[in-house]
Amino acid sequence: MTWQYTPRVAVVAGLRTPFAKSGTHYGHLSALDLGKLVVSELMQRSGVDPNEVQELVFGNVIPSVKAPNIAREIVLGTGLPRKIPAYSVSKACTSANQAITAASDMISRGYADTVIAGGAESLSDVPILFSKKFADALVSASKQKSLAGRLGAFAKIRPKDLAPDAPAIAESSTGLTMGESAEKMAKANGITREAQDRFALQSHTRAAEATASGRFKSEVMPVIVPPSFDNIVETDNLIRGDTTLEALAKLKPVFDRKYGTITAGNASPLTDGAAAVLLMSEEKAKALGLKPLGFIRSYAYAATDPFDQLLQGPVFALPIALERAKVKLEEINVIEMHEAFAAQVLSNIQWIGSKKIAQEKLGRSQAIGEIDPEKINRTGGSIALGHPFGATGARIVTTVCNELQRTGEQYGLVTVCAAGGIGVAMVLERE
Ligand SMILES: CC(C)(COP(=O)(O)OP(=O)(O)OC[C@H]1O[C@@H](n2cnc3c(N)ncnc32)[C@H](O)[C@@H]1OP(=O)(O)O)[C@@H](O)C(=O)NCCC(=O)NCCS
Repeated sequence: MTWQYTPRVAVVAGLRTPFAKSGTHYGHLSALDLGKLVVSELMQRSGVDPNEVQELVFGNVIPSVKAPNIAREIVLGTGLPRKIPAYSVSKACTSANQAITAASDMISRGYADTVIAGGAESLSDVPILFSKKFADALVSASKQKSLAGRLGAFAKIRPKDLAPDAPAIAESSTGLTMGESAEKMAKANGITREAQDRFALQSHTRAAEATASGRFKSEVMPVIVPPSFDNIVETDNLIRGDTTLEALAKLKPVFDRKYGTITAGNASPLTDGAAAVLLMSEEKAKALGLKPLGFIRSYAYAATDPFDQLLQGPVFALPIALERAKVKLEEINVIEMHEAFAAQVLSNIQWIGSKKIAQEKLGRSQAIGEIDPEKINRTGGSIALGHPFGATGARIVTTVCNELQRTGEQYGLVTVCAAGGIGVAMVLERE
């Protein structure tokens, strides 16, 4: 089967809020609030008439029970024309990628020429559930006609049933948290604590340098935090430009306290934030006189068995995306690999370069190729910048496009691992 990539899909604008440690700047905001902020500003900066927009697709991993279709709420809450339909997608940490590739598919089929896509997450605003027993009692009480009946519905409730039930960052199939799965990968692949800490240090150093140099000015908007508007957030608040290997080495392992290597320092932190891109067909961008930041050349999703190495999904997606793009790994100039954990990035790189893995897991005779450390995450990654689950994919796509624009290089690669063993790879091109 041959795959056509024309008409090309252009990224004409990309923007994100500064990312913030959950419970800090945006502690009282929802994912919807953050999504509205970024989409409003994206449209304003692009100068594109909102009437041109034909669809909005948004990713969100932990949805609000009150506004499950965050995408449509963003349309209605930002003054965008109400005629714009909108849908939300949930594909764990690849949710914003899924929003972008779904929007891209609409454009390449000719079903739309202008679509907003992105994602948002608030880990400060996760739904806290009641236990099933208490929830059943509440439903039953609401159906009773008398006060005695209503009280009777709670007769069998015990104090333990009142304990809140918060969503876990854990696989329902394996029961392991992301961190425990990453520990498993570190052990299986021999990724040392020192290697992880070195990688985390690089993430922080590069992110701090990129921030100080003004490199993020075009892709990070200032947020004047509602409703009091007395706090202006201009930069990500998780970057530690002053961290050292010694400081990182002192941190205690979190997910396997006795033998583990993953700490708060070499894991991505719990984060609030939103990011979005404006996509158009190449023809539409040209007609409006807009200069695209880049183009989506190909993408692929794949999944691996969560009982194996949960966060190796990108390794399976990468060769497919490269083949679809007709681009070799060595031709890629800029690589953005989502950093869920340093152990995961280093494991992904190890598998990508392994002939044995290629033969045993990918049905290929040769390794996919070597990842040049100088090409990867030049401006830091999710460990330093933070990782609002639903938004990260859109952050990364914008960063790659801007980096290609800055350097004049041609090809960019995005990879993101996700819960469920899912992974995505996207190939972007400058012109
Ligand atoms: C790892 C995790 C549990 C840490 O959470 P936390 O304990 O709230 O993290 P904190 O920010 O409070 O950091 C803990 C300590 O490490 C220190 N620390 C964190 N990063 C550091 C760094 N780069 N350098 C030096 N010290 C650092 C903090 O200062 C803090 O020290 P303190 O206890 O003396 O105040 C949490 O971030 C997490 O669950 N991450 C994984 C999220 C995940 O699974 N994502 C899915 C991936 S797809």
